[in-house]
Amino acid sequence: MLGETPEQREQRLKWFREARFGMFIHWGLYSQLGRHEWVMNRERIPIEEYEKLADTWKPKPYPARWWARLAKLAGMRYMVMTTKHHEGFCLFNTQYTDYNAVKRGPRRDLVAEYVEAARAEGLKVGFYYSLMDWHHPDGARCKHDAAARKRFVEFTHGIVRELMTNYGKIDILWYDVNWPLTAEEWEAEKMNRMVRELQPHIIINNRSGLPEDFGTPEQHITPEPGGRMWEACMTFNESWGYTPIDNRWKDAWQIVSMLRQVAAGGGNLLLNIGPAPDGSVPEVCEQELLKVGRWLQEYGPSVYDATDPMQQEWMITGAFTRKGQTLYYHCNRWPGSELAIGGLQCRVLRARLMNGPEVAFTQTENRLVLHGLPETPPNPICTVIEMEVEGEPKQVLGAGCVLIENDPWRTS
Ligand code: GLC
Repeated sequence: MLGETPEQREQRLKWFREARFGMFIHWGLYSQLGRHEWVMNRERIPIEEYEKLADTWKPKPYPARWWARLAKLAGMRYMVMTTKHHEGFCLFNTQYTDYNAVKRGPRRDLVAEYVEAARAEGLKVGFYYSLMDWHHPDGARCKHDAAARKRFVEFTHGIVRELMTNYGKIDILWYDVNWPLTAEEWEAEKMNRMVRELQPHIIINNRSGLPEDFGTPEQHITPEPGGRMWEACMTFNESWGYTPIDNRWKDAWQIVSMLRQVAAGGGNLLLNIGPAPDGSVPEVCEQELLKVGRWLQEYGPSVYDATDPMQQEWMITGAFTRKGQTLYYHCNRWPGSELAIGGLQCRVLRARLMNGPEVAFTQTENRLVLHGLPETPPNPICTVIEMEVEGEPKQVLGAGCVLIENDPWRTS
């Protein structure tokens, strides 16, 4: 942000760097069809036909209250909801188009409900906004028609201004797909300057075509180079919008493992739910999120808040997160009463099951063996072993070994 010192910028980003876990919500007209949020485009549904969904959408009262409650119970610290996806339907009241939730089917401002619900749970509030628009008459032709571009940029800046004005303090602005224009053609610099004038504390992602505050690896967990902030966004199944036929769901084990990965690399995990058209959350998401929440209640300090990088190699039994001289070994495949870790260069002073008893160990050069552990994992999702160490926390690579795939010092 212009005129900001690096310290001021860090101050602004602090809560986000420490938040670790957020809820992404994809909800729109497409939810009624249940065949992915790209259904209009993939099935080439004509606009006149798709538009009818704007009148048939009748969500139940205040579903966002349960989403926010669920996010809180899952240990999430912020939420980001689609205010307008590529389909072009605005979930909020706007003077720029009647294709919106207040004038059509729902007859209410779904964004206002969401904001109120998130705040009531003490969660930070993010707005997703798709620049690409399949409904707006200038949405595609703006690329080759100067007058259309002018209109569409005015429309976009106008709507973003409304979103930044009408709902109080907004913590994150999450742009998506800037097709078909470049950042310059969107006048993204001007737009984001306006956003920051209205919301000085806001954190903006990189999808308006400008780098802004953070990177957004999608469906993979890859830290940004140079200590830049990043947030991995991931689906629960393989779709963002409600798609009941897509039923390969992630489970608590995988989600906890992703949380370890983002914590080790100093990023965040924005995990998506796609509510049904009435607003209810697929049951399997609820169940797995509640398990993750219970796990975080026990082991939260091993992932939340500031972490430090640590060189480590891949092992079948688990991997580390680190805070200074404290290491947390996330053991998600429990080996039984003995756990051996190779290549650790620092001296272990003390080890214990997190929130549990001390663990006996022997350490020789290149090999740490923890003894007398329970035969079965104390926590079947992932048990954390906490160690106090002396010297640089580092695992040296064995012959033929590779660094684990997501570690931030990885250069290639
Ligand atoms: C992609 C998809 C979109 C989804 C988004 C989330 O850009 O187009 O459907 O909303 O990723 O990151």
